[in-house]
Amino acid sequence: MRKLVINAEKKGEKINKNIYGHFAEHLGRCIYEGIFVGEDSPIPNVKGMRTDVVEALRQIKVPVLRWPGGCFADEYHWMDGIGPQSERKRMINTHWGGVVEDNSFGTHEFMELCDQVGCAPFISGNVGSGTVREMGDWVEYMTFDGISPMADLRRANGREAPWNVPYFGVGNENWGCGGNMCVEYYAGVYRHYQTYVREYGDNKIAKIACGANVDDYHWTDVMMNRCHNATGPINGITFRMDGLSLHYYTSPGGPEGRGSAADFDMYKYFHTMRDALRMDELIREHSRIMDRYDPEKKVGLVVDEWGTWFDVAEGTNPGFLYQQNTMRDALVAAVTLNIFNSHCDRVSMANLAQTVNVLQSVILTQGEEMLLTPTYHVFDLYKGHQDGTLLESSIETQHIGPDEYTVPDLHLSASQGADDVIHVTLANLSLDTAQSICCQVEGQPVSSVQGRILTGEMDARNDFDDKDRIKLQTFVDILVEDGVLQFEIPPCAVMEIKLNA
Ligand code: AHR
Repeated sequence: MRKLVINAEKKGEKINKNIYGHFAEHLGRCIYEGIFVGEDSPIPNVKGMRTDVVEALRQIKVPVLRWPGGCFADEYHWMDGIGPQSERKRMINTHWGGVVEDNSFGTHEFMELCDQVGCAPFISGNVGSGTVREMGDWVEYMTFDGISPMADLRRANGREAPWNVPYFGVGNENWGCGGNMCVEYYAGVYRHYQTYVREYGDNKIAKIACGANVDDYHWTDVMMNRCHNATGPINGITFRMDGLSLHYYTSPGGPEGRGSAADFDMYKYFHTMRDALRMDELIREHSRIMDRYDPEKKVGLVVDEWGTWFDVAEGTNPGFLYQQNTMRDALVAAVTLNIFNSHCDRVSMANLAQTVNVLQSVILTQGEEMLLTPTYHVFDLYKGHQDGTLLESSIETQHIGPDEYTVPDLHLSASQGADDVIHVTLANLSLDTAQSICCQVEGQPVSSVQGRILTGEMDARNDFDDKDRIKLQTFVDILVEDGVLQFEIPPCAVMEIKLNA
């Protein structure tokens, strides 16, 4: 029997709900078909947004959505995406499949989507191929309430009131597709561009700088040294960096490539899990550098791209990054979200790549059909952590898996909501061994419990011919005696247990 201990008296920081954020790029079938089908589509929609997809996203309480990219953001000229849809410019989406982008989904449509989903918009500005003026104008267009060329243009395009834009990214992957800059150069560019990301009226904007790729610690060091705002104005010039991003994909490469998303063996499974768990080391190391410059943790680490990245599904456009999603992806999501929770003192936001039909999607669509992936269900299981307070928790583990890819078998997180309910999320990474758990809660009585579980073979997935093969089930086999819980978690499973005082 494994011992799990939760201490309700040892409270950590608040788990920012934005850790449960998502990312939707103009890439493949994410925006077009996956989310936006246009008002004339036979697919049920409200103002062009698929009602089935919007409803599913509401269910998991998506708190924030990043758009329009990704690499696409640094080639996106927002003015091409406003005004009458039929008159909008058509362009080539050079990064993603070379397809025609007709700009029918632009700023107004994105804001409408966020309204329908009930989430906050996180706009990625164009630094790579855009001008400072273009970026400043976009912010003015979206958020200024008075008389100005951009605010007047917004009104002429049918939107009277400004929108609230709480998060703005100053470029994306500027070390790569966003301009191939070295960090010493980008740090100056960041300070320059962010000056014109103005806060009009009550609209407070968290400015998010492009951060490191994986373990590029030099990038974080230079950005923190030159751009962080914890010590106030430098040389009399006020500038701010509220967030610094980090991109890390779980992409178990090898001579044979990343491997198939749906067809893999036990070695690839453990390789993937080991790579996913690396997120903990990356956050620790980047945080250690950030702590040196910003011990008060005012600058958030924003993991605004994460998730699995496997070979594209056979027979699909290689530029569309479409992949299936299995229980392996569910376990990657489970451990990653537990890791984010455990670093909630520094991680202020994270955005899974990407919402629909691209990489580790929560939703797949095929024409008018839609299915929820195993990863979707993990976000459903974990939504109770949003804005909760992290609680100290521990569990006895054993290392499992082949020598080069060993991982701990159990992975845990616990938090307490404003209603005092304790949420425990637990993953069993073993492929063959169930574990009996004895869970002790210190500092709070437990009167009742509710459990839900997601479990299946490592490669089990939902398909359009069987959309509910993998789904959440109520988990009732929990014995509660004198505040101590006993239950068994099956292999390859993710659970949520709610403990009521
Ligand atoms: O999510 C797909 C791509 O991965 C994004 O466009 C880019 O930022 C990253 O390299």
